[in-house]
Amino acid sequence: MKKIGVLTSGGDAPGMNAAIRAVVRAALSKNMEVMGIYRGYNGLINGDIKPLSVRSVSDVIQHGGTMLYTARCQEFRHEEGLQKAKQTCIENGIEGIVVIGGDGSFRGAADLSARGIPCVGIPGTIDNDIAMSEYTIGYDTAMNTAMELVDKLRDTSQSHDRCSVVEVMGRNAGYIAVNTGIACGATCIIVPEKPWSIEAVCDKIKQTQATGKHHFIVVVSEGVGNSGDIAKQIEEKTGVESRATILGHVQRGGSPTIRDRIAASQLGYYAVQLLFEGKGNRVVGIQNNKIVDYDIQEALSMKKPFEDELYRIADEISF
Ligand code: F6P
Repeated sequence: MKKIGVLTSGGDAPGMNAAIRAVVRAALSKNMEVMGIYRGYNGLINGDIKPLSVRSVSDVIQHGGTMLYTARCQEFRHEEGLQKAKQTCIENGIEGIVVIGGDGSFRGAADLSARGIPCVGIPGTIDNDIAMSEYTIGYDTAMNTAMELVDKLRDTSQSHDRCSVVEVMGRNAGYIAVNTGIACGATCIIVPEKPWSIEAVCDKIKQTQATGKHHFIVVVSEGVGNSGDIAKQIEEKTGVESRATILGHVQRGGSPTIRDRIAASQLGYYAVQLLFEGKGNRVVGIQNNKIVDYDIQEALSMKKPFEDELYRIADEISF
């Protein structure tokens, strides 16, 4: 391949810029040109594309967000959108595309690959919910942000003898919740992967209260439901004054941690290597500290195990 494109799609994640940088630099070092495609698949449909030079990715490695902007593109789910995108690639001489995003973005990459434009996906999402990879770009930074914020909440919970119910992101996955929960010493962690009841949560709070503790952290993954309702019920059933805090999009921002920068650099490099070898319809990931790649359909059909042991340990040591 002589010319490739790169885009970011879906929710942004810290480290996406580091991945773009790696893609651009790896491609240029292999004498391939790189086009930046703006606002996800929308850029392909609308022709919002610009060449990226070696210097256009200077000073981005340390920044959150994505210099290429991002979006979720409905039009790309339909044949007409896909054909427009393919036409843009042909007109601009783009022979392959690196797609940085989550599983929705990978479905688009598979669809475009099937129409003759080879794509390689890089897992970029704070949720860590891509089964073929133990790690996704942005996850570490998001967890560190959540941990710092829960630590701050703990200060005020303690001063007021309150229960802080903290809702973290993760869509339908509880990875951010269980890791943040254990790291912050939460009394309870509620995730979609594990059965839970408000009675069990309140019993745990009461048992902990009986040992002399007066403030509590309950970490709730957003996939579970309304954290405000959970806080209300805890207050009603235990008598402990409770407040709900939704951490929200702040978890998606900030300078990427070293783990995210390294993962992004490795995955970006490897994705370009695949296109350089003429391989498409692949997604790259990390398993046992090694970079691996899978067919996109196969990757999408895989199921990621939950961190049952971590969840169990967190529960056993939190009282
Ligand atoms: O997938 C990343 C994520 O931040 C999820 O954790 C969350 O459910 C969702 O995106 C929020 O999406 P939006 O940016 O559209 O509000």
